[in-house]
Amino acid sequence: MAVVQEKELACKAFLSGSPKKLLIGGKWVDAESGKTFETLNPATGEVLAKVAEGSKADIDKAVKAARDAFENGPWRKMSSYERGRLLYKLADAIEAHADEFAQLETLDNGKPIRESRYVDVPQAIETFRYYAGWATKIEGETVNVNPDFFNYTLREPVGVVGQIIPWNFPLLMAAWKLAPALACGNTLILKPAEQTPLSALRLGELACEVGFPEGVINIVTGFGENSAGEALSRHMDVDKIAFTGEDKTGKKILEASTGNLKRVSLELGGKAPNIVFADADIDAAVKGAITGIFFNQGQVCCAGSRLFLEKSIQDEFLTKLKEKAEGLRQGNGMDEKTQIGPQVSKEQQERIMSYIEAGQKEGAKLVCGGERPGGDLAKGYFVKPTVFSGVNNNMKIAQEEIFGPVLSVLNFGSVEEVAEQANKVAFGLSGAVWTKDIKKAHKLASQIKAGTVWVNCYNVFNAAIPFGGYKQSGYGRELGKHAIELYTQIKSVWVDMS
Ligand code: NAI
Ligand code: MG
Repeated sequence: MAVVQEKELACKAFLSGSPKKLLIGGKWVDAESGKTFETLNPATGEVLAKVAEGSKADIDKAVKAARDAFENGPWRKMSSYERGRLLYKLADAIEAHADEFAQLETLDNGKPIRESRYVDVPQAIETFRYYAGWATKIEGETVNVNPDFFNYTLREPVGVVGQIIPWNFPLLMAAWKLAPALACGNTLILKPAEQTPLSALRLGELACEVGFPEGVINIVTGFGENSAGEALSRHMDVDKIAFTGEDKTGKKILEASTGNLKRVSLELGGKAPNIVFADADIDAAVKGAITGIFFNQGQVCCAGSRLFLEKSIQDEFLTKLKEKAEGLRQGNGMDEKTQIGPQVSKEQQERIMSYIEAGQKEGAKLVCGGERPGGDLAKGYFVKPTVFSGVNNNMKIAQEEIFGPVLSVLNFGSVEEVAEQANKVAFGLSGAVWTKDIKKAHKLASQIKAGTVWVNCYNVFNAAIPFGGYKQSGYGRELGKHAIELYTQIKSVWVDMS
């Protein structure tokens, strides 16, 4: 196997500096409790590093540092141009260490190195550069209401921001959160997912090197419930929480926010309909169905996990889909040839296997996969690419987010029928339509209740394009100018002119 040898690893020096510490007030410190936890390589189950286990006491310290940096530090006095320059410098620093980040991401999360290298890392860099440009473009307005008064608005930062992120795109999610918050002049505490803390910690090191003032970016690694994540969402001196993760966790975070009515933005799960009409370019749609569900091992909130096929093409489509799914090269993510890696953890692997069992019990037909691979891969947290046909939209595997390489295939007879079925789900993050008929495409694009709709494509992203959910997929839009709304608040100032 062409797995990169340990001696060649660009991230070796970083990994050898274990246990990794917390970044609080510009200093790297142990957890108050002295506790650490292990982060594992999901391809092998081996320990990659030990990491400080932050808890409430550390969150308290980090919030104090962030508050002090917000109220009294050089950050608030800095020009927006200088803030933007720091963001550009951070983007340059990530780019200079791109290989190291790609390796860290693949080792910690399991994803194929080609994806880390060509998707996660470049998109993180793009996000920082995009928001670096925004730092100098945040404006208020003047409104002519009454000649006796002059009114102007100020768009100000929200203040101290808590950001809780998941493990599926560890560096990219950190970028989506940090970049707009910093461009707007906030200070922040980032809580990375316990499964994948490493790339965020390396990002923290680079942020210190490029000169972000102390206390502006604080990073507290640790767990969620009854621990660091919960303490952050409950904290009375945190002005806003931005969260990406499970819908159930989002609801808990919202409840925890009521103490001080902090602002909350939530990017939660999905169960996207991926709809293929008989008049579509079938080969392109098969490819789209494959990336739609198997990209990142299916651990994608906008995964096309419900594939709706028009009845007349079902047999042909399924034959092609099965062949492609079975042809995916599954293996250690560090192998350049790997197309699908392990799930992030044993817990996720087991959760996915229980959904596969549920699908079989409910009477769906297993087209391929449905088991853990054996041999070399048995020690990692792998699940074979799995396709179920004959799925009914009421089944558990059609309604709940599986977050794994498990596709549910349904069929339909008419546009009206598929529009109704597509929307019969609690989530509304994304959807896709494959057809050559532009009327049908735009009609469905307007009918699908979701924050993103792809037409004849899937999983296309850009830092300038808003992303977020309808219904229980959350609220608030990240990316684009819309994230500026999340991290600023408006003040109107009245001046007597009479
Ligand atoms: P999770 O939502 O529990 O974890 C995400 C982050 O929230 C982590 O940093 C975690 O430490 C933190 N967290 C957990 N409980 C918390 C609490 N009570 N208060 C504050 N922070 C808390 O997701 P988990 O358990 O890792 O995965 C379970 C399922 O969630 C997955 O199978 C998938 O369906 C969904 N998920 C969705 C994601 C998305 O992008 N929409 C990302 C990750 C998971
Ligand atoms: Mg959880």
